Amino acid sequence: MKSDPTQSLKHIAIIMDGNGRWARKRGLPRIKGHNAAEKSIHDAVEVCGQIGVEYLTLYAFSTENWSRPKTEVSFIMKLLSRFIKGNIEELDRKNVKIRTTGRLLDLPDGPRNDLEAAIKQTASNTGLHLILALSYGGKAELLDAFVQIASSVSDGHLTPGDITEEMISSNLYNPDVPDPELVIRTSGEQRLSNFLIWQSAYSELVFTPVLWPDFHAEQLNEAIAEFRSRKRRFGGLE
Ligand code: IPE
Ligand code: IPE
Ligand code: MG
Repeated sequence: MKSDPTQSLKHIAIIMDGNGRWARKRGLPRIKGHNAAEKSIHDAVEVCGQIGVEYLTLYAFSTENWSRPKTEVSFIMKLLSRFIKGNIEELDRKNVKIRTTGRLLDLPDGPRNDLEAAIKQTASNTGLHLILALSYGGKAELLDAFVQIASSVSDGHLTPGDITEEMISSNLYNPDVPDPELVIRTSGEQRLSNFLIWQSAYSELVFTPVLWPDFHAEQLNEAIAEFRSRKRRFGGLE
């Protein structure tokens, strides 16, 4: 496998899937799978820090995940608070800047306040941007961007002909974040499930059958090696 170590890799985005199946395989309730996800998150942060990746986006809860049973949703929301409170000091020490993407206003007050405190505490950190995608949907993000642009048109600041791709990008939730060069999905599913659909238009996709709680530093390094072996052409010729 020929590899190009100079291939730019600033942003890795991960669809952390397979927690429920991981638990079921062990005869455990699904929520135990969500609990077991924490170590994989630590490893991903660690590996990104080691190799100088600047942005790591983790798909933690989609706009569609609200349709799950209430008990599971409420467990995940409590787990989110627990994760933030239990890891904030270490992440801060590691110079990680915590950010989010998604419709945060949908979250219950508890986890939203914990997140906001973590964002504030780490705001001046200069290391890895750890972006948690929460109540995130790519279609919702685009819809929100289009509504903003449409209102500029309706108040006369823009005409439809002024709208550019760059303008759409700059109306997304985190306009400063570069598109991910690499999107990884664990658990064997081969779809985006509404994740970063605009931003991943030219991302390299790596699908692995490994379930998220089993996806550790070794597996992430393998996915990165796979990325480095790809030839990125962007429609041109080599
Ligand atoms: C991913 O694991 C976590 C969330 C979507 C919140 P799942 O809960 O989707 O696990 P599977 O896909 O059912 O195994
Ligand atoms: C995608 O996983 C969302 C997250 C990992 C947060 P899902 O398990 O919700 O996706 P589907 O239902 O398999 O498409
Ligand atoms: Mg799933």
